[in-house]
Amino acid sequence: MKIHTSEFLKSAADLEGCPESELPEFAFIGRSNVGKSSLLNMLTRSKGLAKVSSTPGATQLINYFTINESWFMVDLPGYGYSKTPQKVRDGFQVMVSEYLANRHSLRCVFVLVDSRHTPQKIDLDFAEWLANAGVPFVLAFTKIDKSKAGKVKSNVAAFLKSLSDRVDGEPRTFLTSAEKGTGRGEVLDFIDQALKS
Ligand code: GTP
Ligand code: MG
Repeated sequence: MKIHTSEFLKSAADLEGCPESELPEFAFIGRSNVGKSSLLNMLTRSKGLAKVSSTPGATQLINYFTINESWFMVDLPGYGYSKTPQKVRDGFQVMVSEYLANRHSLRCVFVLVDSRHTPQKIDLDFAEWLANAGVPFVLAFTKIDKSKAGKVKSNVAAFLKSLSDRVDGEPRTFLTSAEKGTGRGEVLDFIDQALKS
């Protein structure tokens, strides 16, 4: 898929604040600082579209971007940032889980996982929650430019192995680097296919 236009549409504080439009949407979520906003900018080839920050917790709302005037890309707040006050974290969790479980036009969730780390409980828990809630999801391992290929491979394999103990079937998996543009074609092709089906 070629991206012709990408525009920020709006930020929503909760499910009710999401656009009324019925365009299909794809959401991106993962631990705080995993590289969600960077991946969105890489996919759309626009540096400043989503706000990138070295401080975790930069994205605190449901951010909507309209792509090719035909689908929405949704940047969700990161989970698991320990310095965010518990009350705020609980609020995020309610907002995000309500959105994920009830947004009818949501086609698929990209769960971003940092490829530098061995499987983290918080990511496995989240993927399991999605599976149990019946929300379609795929995995995108991020920042693959930061480790040796062998390490990325073993971390991905370990993650899939741990996940297979919890959920049926293996989710589609993408290897990405926002820095190098790795995985861009694969992710956009996947979205293209999903839009056609
Ligand atoms: P929150 O919105 O705070 O949850 O963070 P986020 O998941 O949107 O992460 P963001 O895109 O802001 O990136 C966090 C940090 O990681 C930034 O310093 C990015 O430059 C860096 N980063 C993101 N993706 C990559 C990547 O593929 N490679 C490298 N080397 N750095 C990356
Ligand atoms: Mg962000």
